[in-house]
Amino acid sequence: MAWGSDSADTRLHGTAIADSVIDLIGNTPLVRLKRISELEGITGVLTMKMETTNPGGSAKDRPALEMILAAERDGLLLPGGTIVEPTSGNTGVGLAIVAAQRGYTCVFVMTDKVAPEKVSLLRAYGAEVVVCPVAVAPDDPTSYYKVAERLTHERNAFRPNQYANPANPQSHYNTTGPELWRQTGGRITHFVAGAGTCGSITGTARYLREMNPSIRIIAADPVGSVFSGGSGRPYLVEGVGEDFFPAAWDASLYDEIIAISDEVSFLTARRVSREEGILIGGSGGMAVAAAIQVAKSAAPDDIVVVFNPDSGRGYLSKVFDDGWMANFGFLRECEQCVGAMLASRGETPELLYVNPSQTVRHAIDLMRAHGVSQLVVCKNTPPFANAEVSGAVDELDLMDAIFRDPDVLDTPVDRVMGPKLPTIGIGQKVELAVEMLDSAPALLVLSGGRPLSVMTRTDVLAYLQAVVDDG
Ligand SMILES: Cc1ncc(COP(=O)(O)O)c(C=O)c1O
Repeated sequence: MAWGSDSADTRLHGTAIADSVIDLIGNTPLVRLKRISELEGITGVLTMKMETTNPGGSAKDRPALEMILAAERDGLLLPGGTIVEPTSGNTGVGLAIVAAQRGYTCVFVMTDKVAPEKVSLLRAYGAEVVVCPVAVAPDDPTSYYKVAERLTHERNAFRPNQYANPANPQSHYNTTGPELWRQTGGRITHFVAGAGTCGSITGTARYLREMNPSIRIIAADPVGSVFSGGSGRPYLVEGVGEDFFPAAWDASLYDEIIAISDEVSFLTARRVSREEGILIGGSGGMAVAAAIQVAKSAAPDDIVVVFNPDSGRGYLSKVFDDGWMANFGFLRECEQCVGAMLASRGETPELLYVNPSQTVRHAIDLMRAHGVSQLVVCKNTPPFANAEVSGAVDELDLMDAIFRDPDVLDTPVDRVMGPKLPTIGIGQKVELAVEMLDSAPALLVLSGGRPLSVMTRTDVLAYLQAVVDDG
C-alpha cells in the first residue's frame, strides 16, 4: 500500500513509507482459520480479523485515535493538553501511542490489583501512571474513580471515557466495517465479536447493516455478564462482558448473543494458538468459540468473520500458564487427583454456603445439620455460575466471637467471617492438597473456575486410607 501518497510531505509520495505510526492503525488483515475449520467440519469460510497487527497490538488503537481526533475538533483537547483515563488495558496503550505522536501527556489511573507489567507497559510509552488502592470504597478520596476525577479537574484534562464516548463506535463504523466489506468483496454473511464497551460490535454492525441488511451480527459474551442475561459477575475473561449497559449497547443490531464460559474461552484461546499458530487472548478465544458454533450451521458459501481484539502475549501468566489454569480447575494435571478424592466421598458433595447477610445463628444451624466445621460465604447462589465467594466462617472463629459477645449470634455473618479459603483445582495433584492443608483447615475446590466443594483434612485422610486399604 502506498502510504506515502497521502502524506503532506511530498518526499513520501510514491513510497510505501507511513507518515507516522498513526497511519498504521487499522487495515488489519483477515485470515482464514483453516485448520480449525477442517477439524470442526466447517464447510463455510471461517475467518479472523487480526487486530493484533495494530501498532498497540489491539483493536483499541482505533477508538483511541478517533476519541482524540474528536476531542481536538470539539476543542476539548488543546495543544500540549493532558488526557486522564482510568484504564490499565489496551485503551491506555492506544491513547499513549496517539498522545506521543500528537504531543499530549497521558495520565492513567489504575488499582494496585493490576499486574506490574501493565504499569510498566504504559510507562514505557511515556505515560504517567497513578496506582490507587483497590481495597477502598468507591467514594473514598483515594479510590480509583475519585483520583481520576480529581486529576481531570486539577489538570484541566480531557477524559475520553470510552464507555460513553460516541467516537468509540464511530471509529469502527468508519474503519472496521468498511475494511471487512472490502476485504470480503461484500460477501461477509456473519460478524461475531465480543462486547465490552460495545464500540467494536455496534460500530462495525451499523456499517455492515447499511451495506447489507441481512448480515447476521452475533455477540459473544462471558457467562455471567448482563449482555447475555447474567448479573454482571463473576467471570475471569478480561475486557469483555459488563455489569451495566454502556452507551454503545444497541440490542436492535444483534441477532444473537452467545454466552461462553471462562473454561471454553481459555481452552479455545490455547487451541487457536496451537492449531493455527495465532496467539490470541481469552476474549479472542471466547469470540472464536461462538464463531465455531455459528460457522457449523452456516452454508458453504457463507463468510463468517470473527473479531480478535488482542494477543495472547498479555495473558502468558494466566491463560497460557498451566499452573494458573489448573488452580481454577480448567486443566487436569493427573488422573488420580483432587477430583478423584472428592468422588471417593460418594456423589459430589454439594457446596455448603451462607450468604453474607445471613445471621451467625443460621450459619451455626447449617454447620450442625451437616456436621461440618466451616462454611463458604458467597453471594449470588445458586447456581454457581454466579457464585461470588467473599469469605469463610470456621467453628473456632465463631465460638471465639460469641464467647466474647453473645449478641454476635444475630448479626450478619460477614461481620465475623474470615478470609476466603485457599483454592485448589479439581485436576490438581493430591500432593498439593496435602501440602496446602498443612497451613489451612480446608480448601475450596474449583471446577471450570467455579466453586464446587470444600475439602478438609478429614477428606484427605479418608481418601488416603482407602487407597492404602485397596492396596
Ligand atoms: C481484550 C478485549 N477484548 C474485547 C474488548 C471489547 O471491545 P469493545 O470495548 O469495543 O466492546 C475489549 C475492550 O476493552 C478488550 O480489551
